[in-house]
Amino acid sequence: MAVSYELGESTQQTARFLVGMERTGRIVQMKGRIVVGITGATGSTYALTLIRWLIRGGYPVDAIASETGRQVFEYETGVRFSLSGIAGKKGLLSIHDNDNLFSSLSSGSNRFESAVIVPCSMGTLGRLASASGSKLIERVADVALKERRRLVLVPRETPLNRLHLQNMLALSSAGAVILPAMPGFYQKPRTIEDMINFMVSKILDAIDIPNDLTKRWGT
Ligand SMILES: Cc1cc2nc3c(=O)[nH]c(=O)nc-3n(C[C@H](O)[C@H](O)[C@H](O)COP(=O)(O)O)c2cc1C
Repeated sequence: MAVSYELGESTQQTARFLVGMERTGRIVQMKGRIVVGITGATGSTYALTLIRWLIRGGYPVDAIASETGRQVFEYETGVRFSLSGIAGKKGLLSIHDNDNLFSSLSSGSNRFESAVIVPCSMGTLGRLASASGSKLIERVADVALKERRRLVLVPRETPLNRLHLQNMLALSSAGAVILPAMPGFYQKPRTIEDMINFMVSKILDAIDIPNDLTKRWGT
């Protein structure tokens, strides 16, 4: 479903998202919803930055956290998962209960554009690889795969054992994009934020959202 909103004047960063969107005066036709699933691996700051960017860009976001995902998110970022400061007045952010399988997101008949699980724990990865999940995040990922929608998994663990690697291969074979939390250094990051932005830029690229969050090689 197309969603419209008015661009605010002070949101310079929003303009970075305009490429690829249909513009009619001050009204912007949005692409579809993006589901962001947060599980209990370290690195939830990637999810926070991703959600902030999507909302600033006018993308409707459906956020879900596993129980440990919520705990680690709040511990690492210091932000409550209600994300009340992020929703803005446009109401683009919806928070879903991971236990609510009656959510609209549970069915393939309810359209979302892409799903990103960031960070993706090894536990969630294993349940996805065996299609045996019983929570909303796992159901959304399963729906994305069966409906041939974009599913981006951002696993975070080190070192990786054979089962972790096998699960990643199985999910890649099923159509998921495996995008490990591995920041690069060729762009010469100076701050942790630079490194976070590098990863979030990679995620946005993988779901076809134009961005200039990081300096690109050769530019
Ligand atoms: C502070 C903290 C950091 C963690 N980091 C990771 C991690 O990087 N990778 C991982 O696979 N699990 C990590 N875990 C363990 C997961 O949270 C745990 O396996 C949990 O059961 C995952 O559940 P979920 O997949 O439902 O979120 C971490 C746990 C805590 C408390």
